[in-house]
Order: sequence, then structure tokens, then C-alpha cells
Amino acid sequence: MNLVHSKDIYYIFRDVMKCLDPKVMNHGARTSYILYRMLQCMEGKKFEMYEIAEFAFLATLHDLGAYKTNPGADQLVYETKDFMPHSIYGYLFLLYLTPFKDRAKIILYHHTDYQKVPKQAYEFNEIIHCLNVAEKMDMYSNILGSKFDYMMFQKHAGTRYSDKALGLLYQAEKKYNVFSKLSSGEYKNELAELYEYLIFTDEEKKEFLVGLMYIVGFRSEYTMLDSVTAVHIAESLGERLMLTEDEKEILFYATLLHDAGMCAISKDISEAPRKLTDEEMATLRTHVEVVESILKGRIDEGVLDTIMAHHERGDGSGYPKRLKSDQMNRLMRILQVADTMTGLTNPRSYRNPKPKDVVISILREEADKGRLGKEVVRAAVTYYDEIMAGVKQKSDEMLSMYRKLQDSYEATYKQTNQ
Ligand SMILES: [Fe+2]
Ligand SMILES: [Fe+2]
Ligand SMILES: [Fe+2]
Repeated sequence: MNLVHSKDIYYIFRDVMKCLDPKVMNHGARTSYILYRMLQCMEGKKFEMYEIAEFAFLATLHDLGAYKTNPGADQLVYETKDFMPHSIYGYLFLLYLTPFKDRAKIILYHHTDYQKVPKQAYEFNEIIHCLNVAEKMDMYSNILGSKFDYMMFQKHAGTRYSDKALGLLYQAEKKYNVFSKLSSGEYKNELAELYEYLIFTDEEKKEFLVGLMYIVGFRSEYTMLDSVTAVHIAESLGERLMLTEDEKEILFYATLLHDAGMCAISKDISEAPRKLTDEEMATLRTHVEVVESILKGRIDEGVLDTIMAHHERGDGSGYPKRLKSDQMNRLMRILQVADTMTGLTNPRSYRNPKPKDVVISILREEADKGRLGKEVVRAAVTYYDEIMAGVKQKSDEMLSMYRKLQDSYEATYKQTNQ
């Protein structure tokens, strides 16, 4: 079942990250355009178009680590002075959480001078040198405006910058007018054409989206635990309720992405250790519209409809559309229960997890009032212990991955600073 096209994985990834801070992804997209045109000037058509599209995708994410290390900071801070922390986190995110494992080192060295990049045979060294030039070119063209000269690095050729990469930049500029397209915005259409070449398998698509939710979750462990919990509960309920394979697939994507719109909500609201004001509550509720704006036209409609209904309730008291139970299907009802259980069983900034008997009585009450689906709640109550044991296992796995990634950060930092 093709629920999402490969090119849309790129857009979804980019736009969810953009909610956190648009600067990083905008700089990433412009850098990716420069790199794309440079790679096209390589002799002998070294790379296929789909490979170039993947390098461009990777280049868009080159500063991904900054979301973790320097959230919301001025780019000049982490791009020019202390640049290893965001380079290392970006590298580790790609290594642990995306199908770009074999190319993650490109991100590790994206600020390293040409002469200092370890020479040991790494098949993507050339791309490292090109990305290094491309990303600096974008920074300087923005800072210097009309005073910008794309030949300005020539004096450092062979030392800070690779001669070959600079040559590719000059050719790219002559052939494609890279910098005027960056200022006019025309590059966006050309990148859109390039991303048509992306081809990912279903497994890779899932890995990207799971990775995306983990990366977003790095700003708060609650978010990360919540996605793992909701996905496992929905999956278990789907199993008990005998969903078809296609339905399971839709439910998986919907559960994984249902709260992706929370990236646009400030932590002051989403993690406020108190009752929210009406105004704050209204802001919090916009996370449903945010995810709609990111996913509309980019993912299967069944997935989006399921997501859009995760805060609806059978008695019409939910949001955003106040749907009634006859307007909802089983997948929607499963996600509603999974989301409710996740909220109750995971810690919140303002309260501890609720014990089993409280969770079960809340679920039953909601079902009795016609707010949650009876059949789904029955399955949740019957298999409660099994389901929550599975959640515990998945959460432990996630936490140990999280710790591994942080340990790797320390180790990589020491290694690269020797
Ligand atoms: Fe950077
Ligand atoms: Fe950068
Ligand atoms: Fe939500």
C-alpha cells in the first residue's frame, strides 16, 4: 500500500522541522540547491538523479543537530564558532534514526576545513567538501547581499576549501545561475522537480517518519514517550480488533503523526505545569490544523482523516469539527482511545501517570457517555496488562537508544577534538 510518496517524505520531514525553527530548514533547502547543481557538474555523470536527490535531501538536513544544541539561536553562533556540537548531533540523528546511515558522516564534517577532513578512504569525502562550500556560500550570500562574490573562497583553495569543489561551484553558477535563482526563489521549483526522483522503500519511509518523531521528541522526552506509547497501543488494539493489513498500515501512519502539529506549539503551553487559560487551550488545539497543513495532499486521505479525528468524540463534544459517532470509523475510534490512554498513562509536567484502575474507570465512563468507542474500550480494558507490558518494553528500548545516542555524542566529541 503506497500511503505516502517518497518525495512527500522529504516535504513532511522538512515542514515538521520548520515548525520548530524555519531558519534551519530554509538555509538547508538553499544549501541543497547549490549542492544539487554542483553535483550535476561532476564529470562523467558520477551519480544517478535519485542519488543526487538523496544528497540534496541530506543537505537540507545538514544543520538538523542545531534543533537540539542551539534551539532558536542565531545561525551565526553555531555555524561559525562552536560548530562541532550541532554537527555531531546532526550526524548521530541521521546515523541512528534515518536510512541515511552510510552518508551520515557527511554531516559530521560539514564545517571541517578541506585539509582537516580525515583522508582515510571514505567514499563520500567529495560530497563533504562540496557541502562545506555550498552551505558557506548560502550563509555568505545572505549576510553580504549585493557585496557577495561567489569567487571569494578562491584564496583558500586547497587549504580550507577543496579546489575541485570550488571548480564545481563556478561551473554550476555559470551553467545554472544558482545565486540569482536563490534570490528570486526560482530554485524551489527546480528542487521540486529534483525530489520527484527520490525512491524509498516502505521500510525506509517508515524509518524516516519514526526518526522524525524521535528527533522532534528530543526537545522533550514526553513527546518521544508519547509517540512510542500511542503507536504501540493503537497497534495492539488494531490486532485485537482484527483490522486488515491495509487498515493496520493506515492506523500506524496516523498514530505516528497525529500529534506532529505539536511542534508548532510552544513548550510554555504544551508543558505548562498548571491548568491552561481558554486562550492557551485554543492555541493548543490548533495542533490539529497544523498537522493538516503539513500533510494535506502529501499523505493518503484515510491517514489524514484518522489524524484529524483524534480529538473528536462520539457525542459531538470534540474538536475541530465536532463530529458525531456515525461520522467516524473504527480506525478513528482506535486512535482516540490510544491517544487518551497515552495521555493518562504517561507522566505530564503537571501530574504523575494515572494508575490502572483510574485509567480503566475513565475509559469506561467515556465509553458510557458515548464519547469513546465501546468496542475499542472493551478491548483496551480486557487486554490492558498485556498492552501496557508491550508499551513498557517499547519505551525502554527507546530510552536505551536515547542514552546510546547521548553516549555516542560524548565519544564522538572527544574523537573529533583530538
Ligand atoms: Fe552547520
Ligand atoms: Fe549550515
Ligand atoms: Fe493531539
